Amino acid sequence: MCGIAGYIGEQPAGALLLNAIRQLEYRGYDSVGIATIHGGTLHVRKGVGKVSDVNAALRFAEMAGTLGISHTRWSTHGKPCQENAHPFVDERQEFALVHNGIIENYLELKEKLRKEGVSFSSETDSEVIVHLIARNYRHQHESERRSIKEAVLKTLQELQGAYAFCVLHQASQEIIAVRNGSPLVIGLGERENFLASDVSALIQHTKRVIYVNDFELARVTKDAVELFSFHGEKHPLHVKDIKWDLEQAQKQGYKHFMLKEIFEQPEVIAESLRTPHSAFAPFVPLSFASEPSTFTTQSARRYKHITIVACGTASYAGLLGKYLLERISGIPAVNEIASEFRYRDPLLENNSLVIAISQSGETADTLAAIRLAKEKGARTLGIINVVDSTIAREVADVLYTRAGPEIGVASTKAFTAQLVTLYQLAFALAGKKSDLPFDIIENVKKTLALNEHIKQLAQKYYHSQNFLYIGRNTNFPLALEGALKLKEISYIHAEAYPAGELKHGPIALVSEEMPTIAICPQDAVYQKTLSNIEEIKARNGKVIAIGTEGDTTLQKLCDDVIFVPKVDEIFYPLVLAIPLQLFAYHIADIKECDVDQPRNLAKSVTVE
Ligand code: AGP
Repeated sequence: MCGIAGYIGEQPAGALLLNAIRQLEYRGYDSVGIATIHGGTLHVRKGVGKVSDVNAALRFAEMAGTLGISHTRWSTHGKPCQENAHPFVDERQEFALVHNGIIENYLELKEKLRKEGVSFSSETDSEVIVHLIARNYRHQHESERRSIKEAVLKTLQELQGAYAFCVLHQASQEIIAVRNGSPLVIGLGERENFLASDVSALIQHTKRVIYVNDFELARVTKDAVELFSFHGEKHPLHVKDIKWDLEQAQKQGYKHFMLKEIFEQPEVIAESLRTPHSAFAPFVPLSFASEPSTFTTQSARRYKHITIVACGTASYAGLLGKYLLERISGIPAVNEIASEFRYRDPLLENNSLVIAISQSGETADTLAAIRLAKEKGARTLGIINVVDSTIAREVADVLYTRAGPEIGVASTKAFTAQLVTLYQLAFALAGKKSDLPFDIIENVKKTLALNEHIKQLAQKYYHSQNFLYIGRNTNFPLALEGALKLKEISYIHAEAYPAGELKHGPIALVSEEMPTIAICPQDAVYQKTLSNIEEIKARNGKVIAIGTEGDTTLQKLCDDVIFVPKVDEIFYPLVLAIPLQLFAYHIADIKECDVDQPRNLAKSVTVE
């Protein structure tokens, strides 16, 4: 996810847009740029790095003009570099554009434009948009008064994917902005107007906003705002007065970044599902890295053994990935805690594929594990969230997750993004197109709607000193993740076990004072897990089950139940993770713990 902003009015645009992208830096920070118009000429400054570093070199505030757009990037296509930084301009340098989202059909559009003689300066999908708009603008009949809005509307008919973008033309005192799947809000001022990916970038100027809806185009001048459908029909303006202060706006009204990131997961899954299929299709380089690789899903099948190395939450995604890879692609897979793997002198051959999973891409143990794997001749692949991080640069190929920057120390949306990528990889290695159904997004949203119910359960159980988490098959890695979430933000002791292991010792712990979270959807191991719950109930243990909606058996048996929507069995992990995250979050919040920055923890463990 990236951050975009726009300004049109009577103040110096450079300084104002610099502040706007400072507020949006949580959305992405690997490259930054601003375009302004002054004296009928476009001025563009952009560079690689965080806003403060790039600004120190380029001094955005000194840019002339009272009209402009700005961008802070979270790379999805092409590595962070000067050429790939936004804003993009057309060949005649008349248009400038900033974009947040993914253009799925950018490769074919790029090819079509190249055949029309267009040359590109970047590897990105975004640059395609500005060239299409410029081409459509110039193709307008001379008789028609040339209109940027009409050129953009024509362009929209050609784009597939999710996007929010702002575009301006050197000779026009207006900004055209579009929303389809990525957020965009307009701030209304006096003889000035603002645009941004979210309210935090404009709230210090105005609290009167218009949320642009999907499939809407906005035409913004300093005195007026108009909204249109993608077919040009005028839409009414719904002005809202927001009540937030700046800090609340940065969290978009959520109390903590962690809660905001839990609720961002539908958007994260949607972005991940929009991953260009080329990245996973057979016979196509299996990598988002800018350098095309020889590693394809077809070549990957020659690896007879997969080892996943990771730490913490990423290792629980990895353990779940083991189940998925074996079940879907039929390739044997093991999951190893990186800090153990690196000192175990593991047996690897050159037909081993070692996959590192890491949100930060900087975890010392995972980095060391990958270096060891390379020494032993294994092929390495990364599933990484931070583009161009150390691990991303050291593996032979990398699949970037699309979670955007994760601020909360406790990983939530990054975990889900890792799972989506593991599903896609498993389907790709099986030679299948990714079968992840888009309705999983609706089911995740339905599960998020259980928030209040889960908060009530947290209020009922937050005084407990210990919790047991149990699950079988893919529900066991989820039990591990649920227990970790609770431990790391509420400081309550929680242990996870394979449900079948209870009778081998842990059931001695069961008592009224030690609640058990039992992950028990109606899947292949449902009956077995139900028996484990009965064993606990027979010993007066309290059980909070997470099960499939409508399961009256579970309802009767357990003290409390959180029902998730019924989904295709193999996709249950994507909805089951949500209650585990929310339960831990609310208990920690009720206990007034520092949810976003828990004691003793760091977001990236770069030491052993
Ligand atoms: C997750 O909630 C924890 N903060 C921690 O376990 C984390 O997952 C682990 O340190 C691995 O980090 P990485 O994904 O950046 O490699």
